[in-house]
Amino acid sequence: MKKIKISPSILSADFSQLANEIKRLESGGADLIHVDVMDGHFVPNITIGPPVIKSLRGITKLPFDVHLMISPVHDYIKNFAEAGSDIITIHPEATNNLTDSIEYIKSFKKKIGVSLNPDSPIELIEKNLNKIDLVLIMSVFPGFGGQKFIPNVIEKIKRLKKIKETKNFNYEIEVDGGINFSNYKKVIEAGADILVSGTTIFKENNGDIKKNIEILRVL
Ligand code: DX5
Ligand code: ZN
Repeated sequence: MKKIKISPSILSADFSQLANEIKRLESGGADLIHVDVMDGHFVPNITIGPPVIKSLRGITKLPFDVHLMISPVHDYIKNFAEAGSDIITIHPEATNNLTDSIEYIKSFKKKIGVSLNPDSPIELIEKNLNKIDLVLIMSVFPGFGGQKFIPNVIEKIKRLKKIKETKNFNYEIEVDGGINFSNYKKVIEAGADILVSGTTIFKENNGDIKKNIEILRVL
């Protein structure tokens, strides 16, 4: 039985208490910490950057699953690697050469993720699937937490799972955006290995993080 990993997004956390919120996630059973980095250019919102990641690094041993919604992204990879990211996920539209950016992330001995927006086809990244550790399927258009899940990404998850199995690739499939208690089972059954959730984990059941993470794991 596949163990589903949960990567809570701190975008929905209380930013005035980020260290405590990360400790709550760790004691609540999170497997990774999803850090949404936004630049107000690639997406219409601005969040945090390398200094905040660096200051949070000592708070937890959990891997920082860093989602870079910034462009151009290539020249910032070093900063995020040195700040303590464990997985660095980029969008193909945010770099002039995806293969170069993938190799650059690998040069820092970090895991490499590539993210597909709801309207970005698998073809955009197909020739690089053999080089990456993670495909981050966006089930909302990036930029904000609390948005509604876009159901037609389910087909994309199924296709990526099929490609992975038939070509014996190693990437994990992570799904991000609008995951809640009524859609998470469909997402897992379609082939997700990791679920990102912000609103559901921080807000449901009066903010009982442990309970919310447990629910998202049960099929
Ligand atoms: C959106 C971010 C997501 C978002 C998830 O641009 O990439 O990680 O924070 O938050 P919810 O679970 O509230 O959709
Ligand atoms: Zn994200």
